[in-house]
Amino acid sequence: MKVLVFGGSFDPVHKGHIAVLKKALQIIKPDAAHVVPAYHSPFKAKSPTPFKLRMQMARAAFAPLGKNIIFDDYELRRGGKTYSYQLVQYLRQRYDNPEIFLLVGTDCLNDLHEWKNPQYIFQYATVVAGKRKGFSEHKADFRHLFLPGQFPKMSSTRVRAHILSCGAVPEDKVVPEVAQIIVKNDLYGLDVHRWLKAHLKPNRYLHSIKVAELCAILSDIYDVPVEKAVQAGIMHDAGKGFSGPELIAFCKEHKIKVPYFEDICRFEPALLHSYVSAWFAKHEFGVKDKDVLAAISEHTLGSLKMTTLSKILFVADISSKDRKYKDAFVIRTLAAQDLEKALLYAANRKLWFTIDSQKWLCPVGIELWNHLVKCAN
Ligand SMILES: [Fe+2]
Ligand SMILES: [Fe+2]
Repeated sequence: MKVLVFGGSFDPVHKGHIAVLKKALQIIKPDAAHVVPAYHSPFKAKSPTPFKLRMQMARAAFAPLGKNIIFDDYELRRGGKTYSYQLVQYLRQRYDNPEIFLLVGTDCLNDLHEWKNPQYIFQYATVVAGKRKGFSEHKADFRHLFLPGQFPKMSSTRVRAHILSCGAVPEDKVVPEVAQIIVKNDLYGLDVHRWLKAHLKPNRYLHSIKVAELCAILSDIYDVPVEKAVQAGIMHDAGKGFSGPELIAFCKEHKIKVPYFEDICRFEPALLHSYVSAWFAKHEFGVKDKDVLAAISEHTLGSLKMTTLSKILFVADISSKDRKYKDAFVIRTLAAQDLEKALLYAANRKLWFTIDSQKWLCPVGIELWNHLVKCAN
């Protein structure tokens, strides 16, 4: 009896998952195929998408592929982290002398030896993988089977980042049945977009999307997790809908710490929107990541302790594609080559703009400038 098993977070299921399972079913012709969504601890979850919804998405995407697919909540029943060897163990208990095929992502093949108890997997299962475009041949020293053809280079992380950055499900990566579940349940930041649309002017909302898109591009270049970059980008101006007096009142009411608060209130209260946006990111959208919150707080004035993520947001905010002044193009181009130079240039432009407008210069901005010049020399 041939048994295929396909585990994964399926958060969400994308067309790459469907293509690889479809091909595996055609080639292996299993008697039973178990689709096993991973259990995410509600306390340690990388993504808070409930198991029930990930199972729903798996059913919607995979059910049309064959009648012998078993949608298996084994990991939920176990209620803890399940290693692949335990899945193999479970199938050996469930079936009488099964021939087990473990379908894995191509990227997993190279680190299979680092998985828990790999020898058990190699002994009792054939590892099955699809090749992605640009994938270099792997010399697997265990029983394995490469599915014929090439498979799309897709990842659930990218799909989530896409949805969070633009507020729409990418049709080229997600089938309509899964997209419907995502929309119906407001997953992956669709709720954030609804909030932003309701609280920001259309131009500001569009700007937030453009900043998030540029943050995503720069995160790839500078090796920052794309979801963090997009989160910072899309939420960075959440507090921008408030007037000066409203920002001051909000900061006082919620006891938000702001350097040079009295001076800012007196001379340039609009600067408070960064700190208020970080408050919304934390309390309205549930962001816990300190780097993301700091990046949002610092996106207008900067700080002496900027992380790469903070620098990306600072630069993306001033040079996103919706910015029409000519320096935006220069900074954007520079940012793709040298983030530090782009940051120096962006800080310079901001200071000059403030001086030209006869406005008050916040000491935080001056401190940043001096710090950057010191670092550059
Ligand atoms: Fe801003
Ligand atoms: Fe902005």
